[in-house]
Amino acid sequence: MKVLRVRRALLLAALVTTACDGPQSALVPAGRDAERIGSLFGWLAGGALIVWLAVAGVAVYAMRQRPASDRRRAASLLIVVGGVAVPAIVLGVLLAFGLKMIPVILAPAPPGALQIEVSGEQWWWRVRYLPSTGAPIELANEIRLPVGQRVDVRLLSPDVIHSFWVPSLAGKVDMIPGRVNRIALEPTRVGVYRGACAEYCGASHALMNFEVVVMEPREFERWLDHQATPAVVASAAPAARGGEDAFVSNGCGACHTIRGTAANGVIGPDLTHVGSRLRIGASMLPNDPEALVHWIARTEAIKPGVHMPSFGMLPPEDLEALAAWLERLK
Ligand code: CUA
Repeated sequence: MKVLRVRRALLLAALVTTACDGPQSALVPAGRDAERIGSLFGWLAGGALIVWLAVAGVAVYAMRQRPASDRRRAASLLIVVGGVAVPAIVLGVLLAFGLKMIPVILAPAPPGALQIEVSGEQWWWRVRYLPSTGAPIELANEIRLPVGQRVDVRLLSPDVIHSFWVPSLAGKVDMIPGRVNRIALEPTRVGVYRGACAEYCGASHALMNFEVVVMEPREFERWLDHQATPAVVASAAPAARGGEDAFVSNGCGACHTIRGTAANGVIGPDLTHVGSRLRIGASMLPNDPEALVHWIARTEAIKPGVHMPSFGMLPPEDLEALAAWLERLK
């Protein structure tokens, strides 16, 4: 019986701790600021554990004592020391520890650092890289960062309040209409992490996520150079034939930009290199032709309240050509 209980406890502990892992965990930091926040959490949790053990110990001790009238002095002393002095000292130390961390976490990126502008939209993320020379490079729902560099991220919103949060890399900052907030991200480990909106912003609040890909600096430079180029439209491939025509004739270009084509809409995500992204629909679906067909045909069912209408009325061959063509925009 005892062995069974121990086994159950171990299983529960394993389940609980594995749930703390993964690409969206503040407890497995991959960024300078997330490391500090993680250590703050550790100290606060440790402090809370010590206080809890002390209180539980005193309670157990009290339960075992016989009531006696000559203990008034000892009881008063216990209240003053255990109820006032110790909490004030413990909370004071933890407060000082936490406050000391704020300027470090809020430290801006150094001058000349990479600048990125992220705008929370209903319900996706507009991402613009602002190079020191040349035009901004726009993409959507995916941010790539060079490892080991502190990057300046400007946070905007055109509609309602969103909140930008990549738990593995840093804390969260709100995106407020009419304001520019800032956060600095400094990834310390190469990998793919997940970001989310952390402020309720409407029907599909839980359906706006994004990927953060942390790369080696040279690989990152190559990627950014490629993102700056216009789309390579490979409509010659048999499966994709007709995809560009379907895109143009159904008016997709009124909302989406594909640099290098006539499509220059700015309402929806820039699709210039949509085929190179890890996922589609603000991280809802994998980026493959089947998922793209599904997304284009049932957009409103997949993401309630989305501004893009569903195009399920298109003939299946048009949908497939459209998806195949978009997939080739690497
Ligand atoms: Cu955007 Cu919640």
